[in-house]
Amino acid sequence: MTAVLLLAACDKAEIAPNATLGEAAARGKAAAARLGCGACHAMSGIWPQGKTGPSLVRFAERGTIAGRYSNRPDNLAAFLRDSSGTAMPTVPMTAAQADDIAAFLHEQ
Ligand code: HEC
Repeated sequence: MTAVLLLAACDKAEIAPNATLGEAAARGKAAAARLGCGACHAMSGIWPQGKTGPSLVRFAERGTIAGRYSNRPDNLAAFLRDSSGTAMPTVPMTAAQADDIAAFLHEQ
């Protein structure tokens, strides 16, 4: 009986807040660092933390993307692939990288 209770307690610990990044988000963090997003933005754990663009720390709490699209992962990935019409230059990336970076921005 005791063993069963201990196992149940372990299951809960895995979904604690501040858990490490999921797989997609971890890939997205690496991609964001490689693509140089930090040159213009502050993002958790990525250097430099540029100030040309807005800070992206805790981005999941923001209502909109660049003030025009509602902040959902699919809209975020689409914006990352094509930010034309905004003050951000489009950074070339694959659809998979955009999905992963969107996951990272919403989890960091
Ligand atoms: C040359 C500078 C520059 C680079 C490099 C850059 N951005 Fe941006 N980014 C901007 C600017 C400027 C804006 C503001 C756009 C606007 O609101 O019109 C912006 C806006 C954004 C937004 C929306 C922010 C908000 O407050 O709604 C996101 C998300 C974003 N960038 C992600 C990225 C990611 C991810 C990368 C790397 C792939 C990246 N940016 C690279 C300059 C840059």
